[in-house]
Amino acid sequence: MDSGTRQVIPSHRVINPSILYVGTPVALITTLNADGTPNISPMSSAWALGDRVVLGMSTGSQGSENAVREGECVINFAQASLWKQVDSLARTTGRNPVPG
Ligand SMILES: Cc1cc2nc3c(=O)[nH]c(=O)nc-3n(C[C@H](O)[C@H](O)[C@H](O)COP(=O)(O)O)c2cc1C
Repeated sequence: MDSGTRQVIPSHRVINPSILYVGTPVALITTLNADGTPNISPMSSAWALGDRVVLGMSTGSQGSENAVREGECVINFAQASLWKQVDSLARTTGRNPVPG
């Protein structure tokens, strides 16, 4: 590539065959709220690609707002024995008020 030429990476690419979106493990994305408290968001759309981790996180979530503001997050994969605790997060949000 010539110096000064930026590589344009398309933000969306149609893949063939289309891959089934099943069976991905649940990652727990921990971010920092503006008041310094932690927020944990369950997420299945997390992939490690090369030296990057790609997170498919809704822009409407508290975790997304926190990650953009702070520029960092922690990704955990809870051990199987913690499934009840992980399950208890499933229908929660750190958003206040809770989106309708
Ligand atoms: C098992 C599971 C997987 C989820 N995966 C995703 C995901 O990949 N991307 C996403 O944006 N939301 C995902 N969600 C929904 C978020 O967890 C949900 O929007 C939640 O409100 C986020 O919490 P927060 O607002 O505190 O960040 C998932 C929820 C569950 C229970």
